[in-house]
Amino acid sequence: MVDVILGLQWGDEGKGKVVDYFASKYDVIARFQGGPNAGHTLFVNGKKIVLHQIPSGIFHSDKINLIGNGVVLDPVTLKKECESVIALGVDVTKNLFISERTQLILPTHRALDKASEISKGDEKIGSTLKGIGPAYMDKTGRNGLRVGDILEKNFTTQYIKLRMKHQQLLDTYHFQEDIVKWEEEFFDAIEFLKTLNIVNGEYFINDKIKNGKRVLAEGAQGTMLDVDFGTFPFVTSSNTISAGVCSGLGIAPQKIKEVIGITKAYCTRVGSGPFPTELADSTGDFIRNAGNEFGSTTGRPRRCGWIDLVALQFACMINGVTKIVMTKADVLDSMQELKVCNGYMVNGIKTAMVPFQMNHVEIQPVYQTFDGWNSNITEIGIYEKMPEKMKSYIQYINEFLGISIEYVSNGPGTDQIVSV
Ligand code: GDP
Ligand code: IMO
Ligand code: MG
Repeated sequence: MVDVILGLQWGDEGKGKVVDYFASKYDVIARFQGGPNAGHTLFVNGKKIVLHQIPSGIFHSDKINLIGNGVVLDPVTLKKECESVIALGVDVTKNLFISERTQLILPTHRALDKASEISKGDEKIGSTLKGIGPAYMDKTGRNGLRVGDILEKNFTTQYIKLRMKHQQLLDTYHFQEDIVKWEEEFFDAIEFLKTLNIVNGEYFINDKIKNGKRVLAEGAQGTMLDVDFGTFPFVTSSNTISAGVCSGLGIAPQKIKEVIGITKAYCTRVGSGPFPTELADSTGDFIRNAGNEFGSTTGRPRRCGWIDLVALQFACMINGVTKIVMTKADVLDSMQELKVCNGYMVNGIKTAMVPFQMNHVEIQPVYQTFDGWNSNITEIGIYEKMPEKMKSYIQYINEFLGISIEYVSNGPGTDQIVSV
């Protein structure tokens, strides 16, 4: 049996915290896509930790954490991350496993990401510059190197061959940076990677499922950043949606049970691209400060706005969401008034559908206004004790989406989550 936790917006919905919270109910926590562009925050004994590639179940010593074949893995970032979790008492040789089919991010992928973004000028994606796009391009272009390849005798030869291809591209971009130091780090990290558990991920996970183990698939990014269904081209390069679980882990669709979608009580986006409910004003600034909305991976300020039910409904449809967790409700604690987008005006016509090219049409969000609850909910542990005005807000969203918000997160702490 496999359940999925994934983001319904443009990422950073609080997946790390929610996965950590639910991890105790599962035996295996597995990442199925993305790479070091992700930044998943959780708290371990009150200490803030940001994970990029390691699944968010790593601090549960009795859980298996698997990096699946759908991930693009940067060995350099992985080594640093492993060092930081080892320092907190985790034995990565016991509970971290990596699929041999996982694609490697090379130093030249990072260079190409940077060169490509610079060349786009004003039209840049706002990439995290971790080499994600170029690494997935090499996967679909059938050039990439995989984790299993590092155990082959001719790995260095294969590396040099691909690096030369990349160099030709970098030359066309007139990319000047010296990547020799990046390569030294890379080969050092490759040696470290060899000491970890490299497995045949698809047999590994299917064996667990056959033996009745419970798997939690942890999404990265969010539905609106999906390469097929997001706000293309302002997206990431993987399938962030539930369908990505099957191809990113080697799991059959019938094995998937719950699809738990995470949304903030409002909405954020980091990087470029359309965001119909964005508040480029003092309200947006207020939310950014109250929610500490600065990127976990890059530190960039996140763009903030009202919750967008048109985009959320679309995300629920694409993913087959069965239940919703709403995070960061406490961030709205001192707002006098809240807005919920329940339609888009496009060319004078109201629609509840996400347009093909959001950035090519003028979208005017249509709002329903709610009174703010105007009280501190961070210490409340039972839903019944939550303010009535918050319950009305949640009720409206439930009815609009036809799917229930089953948990409300009311603070960053592991235990600050209330079952509805
Ligand atoms: P992820 O990428 O989806 O895992 O989310 P991030 O870790 O990038 O960003 C979520 C941020 O919100 C982190 O700093 C979390 O500690 C924080 N957070 C998560 N849930 C809550 C919540 O309910 N309330 C508040 N105030 N912060 C939260
Ligand atoms: P988590 O898992 C928020 C955004 C980038 C950029 C676009 C493409 O923490 O929610 P990429 O580096 O993939 O080429 O960037 O996607 N992006 C994210 N935004 N959260 C993330 O991950 C993101 N990963 C990528 O800002 O706009
Ligand atoms: Mg994040």
